[in-house]
Amino acid sequence: MKVGILKELAPNEKRVAATPTVLKKIIKLGLEVVVEAGAGAGAQLLDGAYAEMGATIAPDAATVWAEADIVLKVRAPMMRSDGKHEADLIKEGATLISFFWPGQNKPLIEHLQARKVTVLAMDAMPRISRAQKMDALSAMANVVGYRAVIEAATNFGRLFPGQVTAAGRVKPAQVMIIGAGVAGLAAIAAAKSLGAVVRAFDTRPAVREQVQSLGALFLEFKFEESGEGAGGYAKQMSEAYLAAEQALIAENAKEVDIIISTAVIPGADAPKLITSGAVVSMKPGSVIIDLAAEQGGNCALTERDKIVERFGTKIVGFTDLASRMADQSSELYATVVYNLLEDVYDAEKADVVIDRGDEVHRGIVVLDKGELLWPPPRPKPPSHAPRPEKKPQVIAIAPPPPTSSALTPILLGLAAALIGVAGLFAEGEFLQHLTVFLLACVVGWHVVWNVSPALHTPLMSVTNAISGIILVGGVLLLRVGGLQIATILAAVAILLAMINVAGGFLVTSRMLKMFRRGPAKETVHAHAHGGRK
Ligand code: NAI
Repeated sequence: MKVGILKELAPNEKRVAATPTVLKKIIKLGLEVVVEAGAGAGAQLLDGAYAEMGATIAPDAATVWAEADIVLKVRAPMMRSDGKHEADLIKEGATLISFFWPGQNKPLIEHLQARKVTVLAMDAMPRISRAQKMDALSAMANVVGYRAVIEAATNFGRLFPGQVTAAGRVKPAQVMIIGAGVAGLAAIAAAKSLGAVVRAFDTRPAVREQVQSLGALFLEFKFEESGEGAGGYAKQMSEAYLAAEQALIAENAKEVDIIISTAVIPGADAPKLITSGAVVSMKPGSVIIDLAAEQGGNCALTERDKIVERFGTKIVGFTDLASRMADQSSELYATVVYNLLEDVYDAEKADVVIDRGDEVHRGIVVLDKGELLWPPPRPKPPSHAPRPEKKPQVIAIAPPPPTSSALTPILLGLAAALIGVAGLFAEGEFLQHLTVFLLACVVGWHVVWNVSPALHTPLMSVTNAISGIILVGGVLLLRVGGLQIATILAAVAILLAMINVAGGFLVTSRMLKMFRRGPAKETVHAHAHGGRK
């Protein structure tokens, strides 16, 4: 049987599905290999190196398609410049192993079905332990996460590490990673190693420890909904959740210099998490690397395959980051493809044999000798995943943090002792006021601590109303006149309440500007950020 390696046709695609080192291992399985001339040129792999390992070099793609029983590719078959579709060139009954995206490629499936082809989709590999060595998406995402940081550093006009030099002090770059999957974790590690201060967020609570173990801060977000889905992937979140998450990200966007966003759910459009308002609030010179550009982008302003500058922030929407490190990506891709080939190739039968009872084979097989097997049955949810149940998505009334619960009995004891002492010596009216004051403290404490941190800013605006009551009380007390304790306290209360009222209005108006759509944004930005803070 012959394995065929082709030059990729997609623009900007420099990867190749087999390297000379891997080719040697394929030959050891008892297979012959035919390589199209120049197939590895984009990854600095010369035809001579393939020939040296025992491959035949074919002068053109048509020869490879005509001879190969198993075709190894990076991208799914596509239209050639001569108007012929690659799918029309494949040998009848052959096997194709490549990224395929079967959910989005129905016409191509029908095309190949007619030619009784076996199609194995590398992108459909289940994320289970046994399949790790065949997981091409993870292998690529690892490179992509690293490359995203390098792209960010290239577009960011400042240093990553903090430094104290004779020429002055340099603050470390602040980086936020959204989505701590494979690419996200690789980006955290790369950004940390360059000296940045990193914070990260993901809907799956399970990644918190992985984020922290890489030395990054995991952003707290109290919302009663977990992002843990089936098959090792995340699930789609409710609209209420995403709205609250946008607020969390907008809040953090003001403080960071770089955002690298990787948040996706397989088979779905990327959630829009970075609003235009959040971009407006970023410091001039900031950078967003939107890895989800291919799925529509996590940022509202991303343009696919472009770097655009919006409100002083550069937004990078490249979708070919793996290809920008073609040498390394090809080596990793070739290895995972070989691992799969070794798993499905039966040397005795000299054929590709799909075991439909095998979770890995069943997950990736789209067509088996022309028989349609897509989509596979739904994978079992992980044992630790919560059972999906329909319940309203509400902000959690989370239990108070452990420190506060330990403190509560002490505080209550102190309050009781205070009332007891006051009861013995103070007047009745004072006792009544003290009781109301202490109860208000308890209620206030519980209200504030149970509000999601993402909603602290709107909460601050609400406190305006409370400050208004204090103002009225203070003004009434001032009418008593004279320099006595009551009037001094009233004056202090008026001053503090005024600060709160003014602050509340300022915060509210800033928030409204952040979320306001339309051309006003440029102006808002120009005023809010006269220069880098
Ligand atoms: P992954 O599935 O391992 O990670 C995605 C992470 O996003 C998961 O941890 C998930 O929980 C998280 N997530 C989902 N929804 C979220 C939300 N609303 N908020 C926060 N986190 C959320 O995926 P992987 O392999 O790390 O890939 C990440 C992205 O990189 C994908 O969009 C992939 O297509 C893209 N990619 C981009 C390339 C490029 O050149 N731009 C090349 C290769 C991959």
